[in-house]
Amino acid sequence: MATLSFKSQILQGIPKDLPPKRERSSTVSHAPKRKEILSLEEKKLAIRNALRYFPKTWHSELSKEFALELNDYGRIYMYRFKPDYDIFARPIDAYPAKILQAASIILMIQNNLDPAVAQHPEELITYGGNGAVFQNWAQYLLTLKYLATMTEEQTLHIYSGHPMGLFPSSKEAPRVVVTNGMMIPNYSKPDDWEKYNALGVTQYGQMTAGSYMYIGPQGIVHGTAITVMNAFRKVLKKDESSNGKIFLTAGLGGMSGAQPKAGNIAGCITICAEVNPAAAHKRHAQGWVDELIIDINELVSRAQKAITDNEVVSLAFVGNVVDVWEKFNEEGLFIHLGSDQTSLHNPWAGGYYPVGLSFEEANDMMSGDPEAFKEKVQESLRRQVIAINQHTARGTYFFDYGNAFLLEASRAGADVMAENNIDFRYPSYVQDILGPMCFDYGFGPFRWVCTSGKTEDLQKTDAIALKVMEQIKRTAPKEIQQQMQDNITWIREAEQNKLVVGSQARILYADAEGRAKIAEAFNKAIKSGEISSPVVLGRDHHDVSGTDSPYRETSNIYDGSKFTADMAIHNVIGDSFRGATWVSIHNGGGVGWGEVINGGFGMVLDGSEDAARRLKSMLFYDVNNGISRRSWARNEEALFAIKREMKRTPELKVTLPNLVDDSLLENLFD
Ligand SMILES: NC(=O)c1ccc[n+]([C@@H]2O[C@H](COP(=O)([O-])OP(=O)(O)OC[C@H]3O[C@@H](n4cnc5c(N)ncnc54)[C@H](O)[C@@H]3O)[C@@H](O)[C@H]2O)c1
Repeated sequence: MATLSFKSQILQGIPKDLPPKRERSSTVSHAPKRKEILSLEEKKLAIRNALRYFPKTWHSELSKEFALELNDYGRIYMYRFKPDYDIFARPIDAYPAKILQAASIILMIQNNLDPAVAQHPEELITYGGNGAVFQNWAQYLLTLKYLATMTEEQTLHIYSGHPMGLFPSSKEAPRVVVTNGMMIPNYSKPDDWEKYNALGVTQYGQMTAGSYMYIGPQGIVHGTAITVMNAFRKVLKKDESSNGKIFLTAGLGGMSGAQPKAGNIAGCITICAEVNPAAAHKRHAQGWVDELIIDINELVSRAQKAITDNEVVSLAFVGNVVDVWEKFNEEGLFIHLGSDQTSLHNPWAGGYYPVGLSFEEANDMMSGDPEAFKEKVQESLRRQVIAINQHTARGTYFFDYGNAFLLEASRAGADVMAENNIDFRYPSYVQDILGPMCFDYGFGPFRWVCTSGKTEDLQKTDAIALKVMEQIKRTAPKEIQQQMQDNITWIREAEQNKLVVGSQARILYADAEGRAKIAEAFNKAIKSGEISSPVVLGRDHHDVSGTDSPYRETSNIYDGSKFTADMAIHNVIGDSFRGATWVSIHNGGGVGWGEVINGGFGMVLDGSEDAARRLKSMLFYDVNNGISRRSWARNEEALFAIKREMKRTPELKVTLPNLVDDSLLENLFD
């Protein structure tokens, strides 16, 4: 295998000769051992399933090796078949594909598995602990071979990482259709994922992992900066600055680690508690947080100084966040914004560390006495909520950051329920901020990747996007002036924020008009040669239309339909026949299997007339589908946005809701 060139290895797919057995790398992070869940017969089935990728003559040797992998790691990753070449986003002409679209998809897959980008690269996990690109290396090899050999008259269908094959289609069809974790609804609980993933028949694609659209931490920084900026706008007077005002939160982990950097971009004092010293030091060394403080009294005096001097600074407190909430209360320090990004979607296995125990003590108790640990977690949550409630009584604005903080606090018996005993007394970030201020108007995490791999191309796209946004802002209605300005500021400062990890990618919150006009301008620049090679468009699934998730993306839908997933399904079907280069639909995402359906797309711009036609049609639908659903749910901002769009686009005819006078409903059922 090692003697073949990179291109030949891709074209070969599964190698002709059995490659030598290989050990796992000791220099990259590995996925945790998965739960032992299969019966003896099911284990045999998992091996039988894995062996179907290989010639019979290899079965005797591989069966033993795969059985060991299943025992040791709970999954069969087929480490032996991981290629020797380095995996990263090479420039597009490095791939042996027949068509540009397929080469772009290979580039995006390579980026998602780049060890500098991916969380557990040898287990093909990009992020989120279980967000898989493929289940095993055989799927990777076969998929790349199919992509390298396909024509514009074929579509590759991928079932949870498994390439079912190339099917004849047409030039207008997507080149790849991806599904991840699509289950019969009754088989969609977390243990079903464990079982069917161990059998090798499904996978958890997260959002941008299994759809090849991950661009590193940049996406999270932008989303968090937008959230913090808008949260301050909710609490500050018009024209009052966020400088010298405190945003208190917790977590310096995978996603949460973006908070201090985002706080600096939003111009406030960020105080972020992190109980794991290694995580805090890592973020400090990476330059994602300005100062590390270990002593709580020192934190108080440093915070007081930052307030007095009107500073923009981020302070990591190496300790428990509950101590900070309580101490700041004792000291009468005013917190403008409060949130929490500990991993409370996973409370009993290290997602949340209870106050009063050191990090090591907590880890020991977690495995040594799980019941006692659970009690400590719940007691800590109750204490945290008491302190938060004292702050909010004095005017702090607290919001849930999609990490199940309020849900787990309520389960622990903490005082977080609203008077109606149905809702929480605090909003989630989507209910109060991202939903009404961004998604309902169509603003969401649009992104692009320059396939040349050249920084100059990314700079040119930044400049083009800035020019387009400035032009649109001149005539934009007052309702979205602020959002337009935020985008302009972001793109102007994007390069200096140094957020590129992996491919030359950029994220920018834009609405339907912005996305289409930016894409059109890119396509023209590719045609004229100003941009040297194709650009891939895409987005995070955490967006206006692609995701139905009742406690996150669609938590600000109040007509009862937030438990349906029609929008996400329409989105993926609608995008697929309007010109997407690839489409994907997933069960899972950030909140767990069975809790969300999310979808996305990729679209290659190559400067052609075809690309110009497709981008208009697909980007329009990709955003307006969600706005129409949000307006039907009576969301005021979405009603405004869809009416405006119908004026601009006479062929768009959306069913609008008639609003009901609530007094009519008062005595109907007495
Ligand atoms: N950033 C976003 O845009 C976003 C959006 C939606 C949801 N979330 C949610 O945020 C949560 C965090 O994600 P992550 O990737 O950063 O997880 P992570 O597990 O990598 O990081 C969480 C960190 O919190 C620390 N921690 C736990 N308990 C603590 C305590 N009591 N005091 C101080 N520190 C404590 C942990 O040591 C850990 O480093 C997840 O539940 C995720 O789903 C984030």
